[in-house]
Amino acid sequence: MFSLADRMNLVSESITLKVSAKAAALKKAGVDVVGFGAGEPDFDTPSFIKEAAKAALDKGQTKYTPTPSIPELKQAIADKFNRENGLPYKPENITVGAGGKHCLYMAFMAILNPGDEVLIPAPYWVSYPDQAKLAGGVPKIIKGEEKNGFKITPDQLEKAITPKTKVFIINSPSNPAGHAYTPEELKGLADVITKHPNVVVFSDEIYEKLIYDGLKFASFATLNPKLIEQTLTFNCHSKSFAMTGWRVGYIGGPKHVIDAINKLNSQMTSHITSFCQMPAALALNDPRGAESIAQMREQFEKRAHHMHKRLTALPKVTCVKPMGAFYCFPNIGAYIGKKAGDTQITDAVSFSAALLEQAHVAVVPGNDSGFDDHVRLSFATSMEQIDKGLDRVAEFLKKLG
Ligand SMILES: Cc1ncc(COP(=O)(O)O)c(C=O)c1O
Repeated sequence: MFSLADRMNLVSESITLKVSAKAAALKKAGVDVVGFGAGEPDFDTPSFIKEAAKAALDKGQTKYTPTPSIPELKQAIADKFNRENGLPYKPENITVGAGGKHCLYMAFMAILNPGDEVLIPAPYWVSYPDQAKLAGGVPKIIKGEEKNGFKITPDQLEKAITPKTKVFIINSPSNPAGHAYTPEELKGLADVITKHPNVVVFSDEIYEKLIYDGLKFASFATLNPKLIEQTLTFNCHSKSFAMTGWRVGYIGGPKHVIDAINKLNSQMTSHITSFCQMPAALALNDPRGAESIAQMREQFEKRAHHMHKRLTALPKVTCVKPMGAFYCFPNIGAYIGKKAGDTQITDAVSFSAALLEQAHVAVVPGNDSGFDDHVRLSFATSMEQIDKGLDRVAEFLKKLG
């Protein structure tokens, strides 16, 4: 058999996908599994956006478009950044990719040289380290402490920066812990970064709209006038407009970086699906877009409170309060070393496997996010499912000996 590229050894097999595959197999076999694994809203894409896609097809918007997308979409994104985030991007500062994930990957590819270090605060979204490695980078994890709500401090950031540091990733609100920085906390990190002009910030702002308890959102590049030239701002339609499957993501950044990414993408995917582009522009421009976000956010906020209350009522479980996104990330460390039937619990993976097999609740182990004693529960599901699943978790924990 012929061999594969060495770079394939850089990519780890996703534990998350293994757990989801097992949950799917159980469901298929007729087992009533409560799923807390979802990384996507349980709401449908707003109908005015779907109608716009049908209209785009009928109008024949089915051909190639420019790589960074049609002018209307670039303009709508630039307007959104100016209006909602105070970011003075022009259309030339914008490019569009197939979801936030593709945008991040292209940016790593355009920026990293072999050996460049990428600073990633933990807990982190699973794809950052592997994407950085594929682009030749070396991930350096800065561990957020649970007692600080997982937020890293300016001091931790300063200490992590070396002459090899090229990228600093900040994701607030965050996947997997739902933690979010206040504008003042972000300013503390921004002040460190501006002392290091060779460091590029990747600000992953895809959960900006899903933020709770009156917390104010701030785009990282607005926190210091120097940062607009030092930051790439990532966003997408996936979470805020419940459009995960549409694959619409975008980047705002300095023109020379955007040009480089466009050059790269012109040899990769060319552009995103043509008939998704007008609807994506409409989502940003039309007031109904903001209305649907507000409705979804309100539901998520109620669920965030409810799930957090129930999790922290479980014996020996601690959980940082989610301030954004749609995840809770409880610490199940007290149960490591216990037995679930014949299964020895050694970390979050064995905990999650036993929970799925014995209590039929699917959660995501935190190992891929830098924490092997935490699990992620998504509240992108109904209140009824949250209660049903957490009743089962409570019973499961009681039985651990
Ligand atoms: C923090 C974070 N960044 C980026 C992405 C990628 O988003 P998309 O689905 O648009 O590729 C995700 C998806 O879960 C995420 O949680």
